[in-house]
Amino acid sequence: YHVPQAINEPIQGYAPGSAERAEVQAAYDKMWNETLNIPMVINGKRIETGKTMRVLPPHDHQHNVGSFHFGEAKHVHEAIQASLDAKEAWENMSWANRSAIFLKAADLVAGPYRARINAATMIQQSKTIFQAEIDSACELADFLRFNVQYATEIYAEQPYTHSHSGLWNRVDYRPLEGFTFAITPFNFTAIAGNLPTSMAMMGNTVVWKPSLSQLYSAHLLMEIFEEAGIPPGVINMIITDPQETADIVFGHPDFAGLHYTGSTTVFQNIWKTIGNNITKYRTYPRIVGETGGKDFVMVHRTAKVQQVVTALIRGAFEFQGQKCSAASRAYIPSNLWQAVKTGLVNTMAELNMGSPRDFENFITAVIHEGAFDKLAKYIDQAKADSNAEIIAGGNYDKSKGYFIEPTVIVASDPKYVTMEEELFGPVLTIYVYPEDQYEETLKLVDETSPYALTGALFSEDRYALEVGERALRNAAGNFYINDKPTGAVVGQQPFGGARASGTNDKAGSKQNLYRWVSPRLIKETL
Ligand code: ALA
Repeated sequence: YHVPQAINEPIQGYAPGSAERAEVQAAYDKMWNETLNIPMVINGKRIETGKTMRVLPPHDHQHNVGSFHFGEAKHVHEAIQASLDAKEAWENMSWANRSAIFLKAADLVAGPYRARINAATMIQQSKTIFQAEIDSACELADFLRFNVQYATEIYAEQPYTHSHSGLWNRVDYRPLEGFTFAITPFNFTAIAGNLPTSMAMMGNTVVWKPSLSQLYSAHLLMEIFEEAGIPPGVINMIITDPQETADIVFGHPDFAGLHYTGSTTVFQNIWKTIGNNITKYRTYPRIVGETGGKDFVMVHRTAKVQQVVTALIRGAFEFQGQKCSAASRAYIPSNLWQAVKTGLVNTMAELNMGSPRDFENFITAVIHEGAFDKLAKYIDQAKADSNAEIIAGGNYDKSKGYFIEPTVIVASDPKYVTMEEELFGPVLTIYVYPEDQYEETLKLVDETSPYALTGALFSEDRYALEVGERALRNAAGNFYINDKPTGAVVGQQPFGGARASGTNDKAGSKQNLYRWVSPRLIKETL
């Protein structure tokens, strides 16, 4: 049968005076003035332990908007057991019924929950409405709808079989044997929604551990999943200590798969733990991870200056640079440098910084004090170092919220520390290269960082594009020509990187869904 053709959810504009603006403002104000109680959800039951921690918005860290309940080891065990118990009924449910649940979840995200999901993302994750709309509501609806379409195609196909009279070969796509585990980051509500649902869609049951900095919207996602009809125990949300949780989950014989987005170091440690436990498991676990980035913008001498300036500002500073895809190092040829610099400095002088409740603000606060302190340290170092110069921004203030001004560092050394290390904030470092050293600089782009997530190349010369595309073949999983390296759209640019950036099992793709099934070949003699 056919499911509805997936199309990208249209992005709302939130123009002054529009109904959608009024609606999201009302949702924000209501949430801002209440204190939400956030439980864990295990086997469909809300678990309140009484051991609570407050939710404090990054842009106003003295304002309490709620509390979440912190669990213990026994809750991790309960969540695993609930997943295992729910498995049989869930995997036996017909695809028609399973898919209808996820299509309904998409409609709930895009419809009645849209303003609340956006407001929750604005409040606890400090996204502007324009970012929340794209990265939370629309992208999550897209993930759900496109994945339903991809899964339908997967279930319908018979990839490597040829049958003839007397013989029937067929493939049965079974879910993984055991339970699966999703660990999700704070920075995209859509990723938080996608990682557990993409595994569940393929018939798996899930223990889900969201970031503590995303619980306000995670809580709403659980409400949506329940309203859409995901049965109790299929997705269990736990709020627990990371190390204790890891010890229990990765030490369990029924652990069958990990869907992870987060830091490279944590992912590498998890992989080691899984390796150390490998003889304990019933089956080799699937490991899918999307981790860090040190994403580049490489500019050829023929590039259009305005296009480069816009890409740098949007790519580096939207959502305070807290995207794994954010532009964080740029290579500008000497012939264009003065024009690019003027464009950056002039545009950045006009960017407003403040609360996401004020729709004029382009920049809000970074996620927490740890992120703030780390960024402030790098900025201070650049102020002190003789081989670095700050040409825009450089101020910071955490008295009310964790505000870091968008900052551009120009480094005379292409291997300067902020050209190499992932900062995860609104700090862009630029290296100006002699315009006749394009090929040497391409090599530098490729060699400077261990990551390979996103990258952008700007040129109006087809030969330069071809040379660049080839030289940077392994430097980015998502490679953009004459566009910023952020903002991948589900169904258009499936997202993921290689090297230290992850296993490159593109989020929102058929390839990703294949990881959550284990094919069985059946040969039948007729
Ligand atoms: N989809 C996100 C982006 O491309 C990760 O920025």
